[in-house]
Amino acid sequence: MMDGAVPRKKTEADTSKWRPQTRAVRGGQIRSNFDETSEALFLTSGYAYSSAEEAEATFKGESNHYQYSRFGNPTVSMFENRLAALEGAEACRSTSTGMSAVFFALLALLKSGDRIVAARQLFGSCHYIVSDLLPKYGIQSELVDGGDLAQWEKALSKPTQAVLFESPSNPMLDIVDVKAVCDLAHKAGAKVVLDNAFATPILQRPLEFGADVVVHSATKYIDGQGRTLGGAVLGSKEFILDKLQPIIRNCGPSLSPFNAWVLVKGLETLGLRIERHCANARRVADTLAAHPAIGRVLYPGRPDHPQHKLAAKQMSDFGGVVTFDLKAGKWAAFEMLNRLQIVDISNNLGDAKSLATHPATTTHMRIGAEERTKLGITDGTIRLSVGLEDAEDVVADLVQALGA
Ligand SMILES: Cc1ncc(COP(=O)(O)O)c(C=O)c1O
Repeated sequence: MMDGAVPRKKTEADTSKWRPQTRAVRGGQIRSNFDETSEALFLTSGYAYSSAEEAEATFKGESNHYQYSRFGNPTVSMFENRLAALEGAEACRSTSTGMSAVFFALLALLKSGDRIVAARQLFGSCHYIVSDLLPKYGIQSELVDGGDLAQWEKALSKPTQAVLFESPSNPMLDIVDVKAVCDLAHKAGAKVVLDNAFATPILQRPLEFGADVVVHSATKYIDGQGRTLGGAVLGSKEFILDKLQPIIRNCGPSLSPFNAWVLVKGLETLGLRIERHCANARRVADTLAAHPAIGRVLYPGRPDHPQHKLAAKQMSDFGGVVTFDLKAGKWAAFEMLNRLQIVDISNNLGDAKSLATHPATTTHMRIGAEERTKLGITDGTIRLSVGLEDAEDVVADLVQALGA
């Protein structure tokens, strides 16, 4: 949150000219008086003032002094400023989880009597917020098929305050035309919130296509090694500082300094990791597509993905998740999962370790069979988050698990 990102060099760098990889390694760094090279972990909940006058001035907003780690913390600021530099956002506020990022971003945009339109291709908990929770507080919600611009156009023909979607979506990797939906949303008076967890700013920068707010589950690729939970909301200074920060400050879904430290170090290697995730996923997707037990492979980087061209237009590469269907359904999917020797059965994703899950009985169980059918999730669907192992070992594991 706070600006303190002054590189203490004899001559100061023009950080606006830094390329993404330099931003990922050096963006937002605050050095303490000890001049440490690696980002320091400020494991403190409070801050001491040099005088009562300084405390008063800080609470009046006249000083940049940190007050309390629910409001801000130097390690948390480093993570927020580095991620903002990567997304090209004016400001960032981090949160304890990806779900608190989604929820608090929507809370900051909506009030009773308002309306939200969302793609139905949402992670299960986002689905719950839009379809069950917000309507309880007098916010009307409508779900559309995220890939169908006609449905967006119809739903956005009424005044609307917020639009929410993921692209690529979890778990079916559907792609939304970010620019086209942003244009329709803005005509309806809505702000667009885009969940960029699957692409990360390395592959897709939604603010450049017109999105107003980007949210992240930093738990996924930003950590990248399955260690911590975290989330982030990015957007204009006006939205983040004036609308979101007061809610976070008073309601408290703040990111812990320790988790922020893990995540800020995670950003340093994000580009390298994503490059390898993409290469490994492509190799795995091509192998699975040629296997007779597999009915359908969804990977936005393959020309047979229904929205491959759109994905290529708005993403620089296609990510680390591959989703596929076993022709023989649930028993075959379970049998394959149970035979895996390297890939773990886990509902997390974006880890260095390859992880596979059966969405119909895990992440997307609660949305019900009817909604799953609308999303294309079958009983044979497996979502595979391809990790950073040697791709040939992952491929060999999948092939042996598929059996004869
Ligand atoms: C697209 C997407 N958004 C949000 C979340 C929620 O993130 P978290 O688990 O960090 O709360 C997830 C988690 O799987 C997700 O896949």
